[in-house]
Amino acid sequence: MNNFEFKNPTKIIFGKGTIKKIESEIPANAKVLMLYGGGSIKKNGIYDHVTKALSNFDVIEFGGIPANPEYDTLMKALKVIKDENISYLLAVGGGSVIDGTKFLSAAAVYEGDTPWDILTKKVRTQKGMPFGTVLTLPATGSEMNSGAVITRAETKEKLAMGGPGLFPEFSVLDPQVITSIPERQLVNGITDAFTHVLEQYMTYPIEASLQDRFAESIMQTLIEVAPKVIKDPTDYKPAADFMWSCTMALNGLIQKGVPGDWAVHMMGHELTALFGIDHARTLAIVAPSHYKYNFEAKKEKLAQYGERVWNITEGSVDDKAYAAIEKTEAFFQELGIDTKLSDYTKEYEGTAEEIAKRFTDRGWKLGERQALMPEDAEKIVKMAY
Ligand code: NZQ
Ligand code: ZN
Repeated sequence: MNNFEFKNPTKIIFGKGTIKKIESEIPANAKVLMLYGGGSIKKNGIYDHVTKALSNFDVIEFGGIPANPEYDTLMKALKVIKDENISYLLAVGGGSVIDGTKFLSAAAVYEGDTPWDILTKKVRTQKGMPFGTVLTLPATGSEMNSGAVITRAETKEKLAMGGPGLFPEFSVLDPQVITSIPERQLVNGITDAFTHVLEQYMTYPIEASLQDRFAESIMQTLIEVAPKVIKDPTDYKPAADFMWSCTMALNGLIQKGVPGDWAVHMMGHELTALFGIDHARTLAIVAPSHYKYNFEAKKEKLAQYGERVWNITEGSVDDKAYAAIEKTEAFFQELGIDTKLSDYTKEYEGTAEEIAKRFTDRGWKLGERQALMPEDAEKIVKMAY
């Protein structure tokens, strides 16, 4: 196991009927900006619960943060923060609203002229404007981590940011919120969380047995609950397991002491930036090709995953590893997620070259050994056509 430090300051408030508890988490004298997305919270009752809990606070609302939070929209919210002397942010939504709020937390204290620089210059925020979240969509883990991904439609870019000052102060996780989530978003959430675990696990053996088993147990739980939450999102027990699995998949715990890959996400973000494909679906497109392309470097872990998560007991290490990739792709497909780029767009020719060019311009090397060069990414994306 590698050396590590671990601090996760986010307070999790988990369970049925917990939204009202935000009242005692936000400082009484705060001037709050409540941020939300396209309006789903107004249809499913979450808006009413939140505004009731905030009735004793000075609150301004900012709605309309789109999926893949857009820089231009967020700059309008930043103006509200400055004009209205906002002191506390409350995100009510999925990963997009929470990520958008993290950007605002950073931008509110940023001293440069152009907040986009926070993304391009990789500015690490040590202390942002304080914020909390009410999670409405289990998927990204953003509710308990300090990262965010922001999109800029104008330049077709989607870039990551973060820093120790960008953890939510608290996050309310009421699994009942999944009742109103459309199936498309439920399966996206399962796929995203599953791939988060893969990114932190599918590397090379490092003898961190506990992290391996944490990772495997999250994947096993997601596989087990997936058909149940799709069949009946009002069933509380699987909803609770689903929600907590997504949070645990990306709150830092399973990444400690082990190498991380994250190349699937880096290539996936480009597919969202170029074609607007849902985040989780880009991962399902890239992951099978990525694991086939990097088979030799990853086959020990692939075989271990095959044995422990998919009960593949027959054959050599190579056989098990290959079967594990096939099981993973089949799992995504059974969820109803297409795993080839050509399933999403007819305009895919040239995509691999464009992505390789972007990675070259940014000087990116990817993967757990930083050995994946832009030309490798080009080949992987081509395999995913
Ligand atoms: O906008 P509204 O009306 O709220 O509708 C949303 C949106 O259309 C809807 N939704 C959310 N909760 C709902 C609901 N509909 C009905 N009932 C509910 N309870 O679902 C749609 C998708 O929401 P979004 O927030 O975009 O989804 P998700 O949570 O999957 O977030 C995706 C974003 O997070 C980033 C992705 O790149 C993408 O931009 N990620 C953030 C990460 C992080 N911060 O750690 C890691 C991830 O790998 C990921 O990159
Ligand atoms: Zn993800």
